[in-house]
Amino acid sequence: MSPDSTTEAPPVPLTRGCPFSPPETATAFREAGVPRRVTIWDGSRPWLITRHDQVQQVLGPSGRFGADVTDPGFPNTSSAQPAVEGNVFFRKDGDEHLPIRRILNPDFTAKRSEALRPRVAELTERLLDELPAKGKPLDLVEEYALALPTVVICEILGVPYEERHAVHESSKIMVQLSHPKEEKVAAHQALHGNLSRHMAKKRTEPDDGLLSRLVNTWVDDKGVLSFEEAVGLGTLVIGAGHETTANMIGLGILALLREPEQRDILLSDPGKYAGTATEEMMRYWSMVQTEPRRVCLEDTEIGGVLIKAGEGVICNLPAANRDPEVFVAPENLDLTRVERRHMGFGFGVHQCLGQNLSRVEMQEAWPRLFQRYPTLRLAVAEDELHFRDDSLTYGLEELPVTW
Ligand code: HEM
Repeated sequence: MSPDSTTEAPPVPLTRGCPFSPPETATAFREAGVPRRVTIWDGSRPWLITRHDQVQQVLGPSGRFGADVTDPGFPNTSSAQPAVEGNVFFRKDGDEHLPIRRILNPDFTAKRSEALRPRVAELTERLLDELPAKGKPLDLVEEYALALPTVVICEILGVPYEERHAVHESSKIMVQLSHPKEEKVAAHQALHGNLSRHMAKKRTEPDDGLLSRLVNTWVDDKGVLSFEEAVGLGTLVIGAGHETTANMIGLGILALLREPEQRDILLSDPGKYAGTATEEMMRYWSMVQTEPRRVCLEDTEIGGVLIKAGEGVICNLPAANRDPEVFVAPENLDLTRVERRHMGFGFGVHQCLGQNLSRVEMQEAWPRLFQRYPTLRLAVAEDELHFRDDSLTYGLEELPVTW
């Protein structure tokens, strides 16, 4: 059967038979070695790219694949995507993307993120201090995995301490699938309104946070952004900056609970292993599960298949990051693995802005949790855990634990 035949276009998102492995269909497609058609919500049939080298071909510097969600051929995640994200820099290419990315880059370099490590460690310890008072069993997703990135990103942005609770509440609603769409939209608007008020205030009370710089330098001094655009960027950074990291912290804790020998390796010398452990967790979980998406701008052959200009492509990171051509024994979680070519943070010009920060948070969050609570264990049977199979990012709804 030809890879382009109508009968072979399974619906996306693909489901997982095993919560610890990529969807079986994606693995089978990777083994077949060529792009395959899938079907998305609007009935269109973009290509699914599953091999490591082919994902790099799509996301790499060729300029043949675009990220503009308003392009008619772009395989949108929902009917709302072009309206909601149509003007956001990271859904654009070239001159509409890079200049904005450059505005944000300085706050997220490896050096800046590393300088934040002592503060991240302090905030982590503070959250750990507060856990016993919350009672057992305790949902670590909400009280730890989501709380840490929220306070950290609030510090970077310069959101005042007393407002963090409101940001945390909005984020919790935006992150949870069980909340109706209207509630999520309302939470997003509340966050936007909240930031808008703070940013207006920063004009008379500037500080060294990102929000202050956005409004005072990039809106008022240079006139590069409008006030609304600057608020949008702040909201975007909060949104992109904590749900992803929160999901990864939660999934990583689960992996460490399930594989005590791996946890022992990490705890034997966190200074030595936290780095490789984080890269391996990123590879193993590949929690961005239905993106990156692109539209083909120029006819391109991938794996012997002609992708035509105007056709959509969806990269499947979970399958690509288990590609045996690149990773030895890819199904195993090996926290000492040194092969770092995973694409958990994407690849190419749109590669994750916040990856350095996120790394520091994960590197601090996992060892410190188990050092403080060495008897930590799941409070429910593993098969009672709910994974977010159908959302853009993979994760756990809740992680009930006790100790
Ligand atoms: C474990 C945590 C994270 C994961 C797995 C993750 C994953 C990703 C991936 C796969 C992309 C590429 C999307 C594409 O090519 O279409 C991306 C882009 C991006 N990420 Fe992250 N991310 C994480 C944390 C963060 C944090 C902490 C921030 C902000 C502080 C952030 C902000 C962004 C932004 C703004 C982009 C778009 C960059 C661009 O288009 O130039 N992310 N992320």
